[in-house]
Amino acid sequence: MSKKELQVSAIENGTVIDHIPADKLFAVINVLGLAELDNAITFGTNLKSTKLGKKAIIKIWDKFLEDDEVNKLALVAPSAKINIIRDYEVVEKKKVNVPEKVEGIVKCMNPKCITNYEKVRTKFTVVNNSPIVLRCHYCEKLTDQEHMEMI
Ligand code: CTP
Ligand code: ZN
Repeated sequence: MSKKELQVSAIENGTVIDHIPADKLFAVINVLGLAELDNAITFGTNLKSTKLGKKAIIKIWDKFLEDDEVNKLALVAPSAKINIIRDYEVVEKKKVNVPEKVEGIVKCMNPKCITNYEKVRTKFTVVNNSPIVLRCHYCEKLTDQEHMEMI
């Protein structure tokens, strides 16, 4: 696709998060805390995608995601692809991988879990990837995608 046909304008430097399922756009915005950034951000949703039916895309100027941000993204939109843009060119493409362990990102859905009443960093093992299911290291209760709340 040529640049003039892009559905959302090209960016000069920064990160393009592509292939986000359309219904996960706002979850991604929330999990990455994009509302708090001063960077220029453009996004589109319900765009045509051969793989996903409808996809969303987010373009963040002058930002490159940290590892913990990539892990958060993987938890809400495992199909997303990260493109690093420099001088208008795609210099790197990364798939997001759901990590084996998730630490300090997600809340345990068990209200009685120690992580919910003491200052203990949450820790989970990923027991299923799609949909994502996490097992708490402390109480062993499962937290699924539907109940997943970020810290
Ligand atoms: N992009 C952008 N600004 C640029 C270059 C690329 O916003 N200066 C965006 C494109 O719009 C696209 C994504 O970055 O959404 C990846 O670009 P490219 O690899 O050229 O597109 P595709 O080949 O369609 O990527 P894929 O195969 O991952 O869909
Ligand atoms: Zn727990």
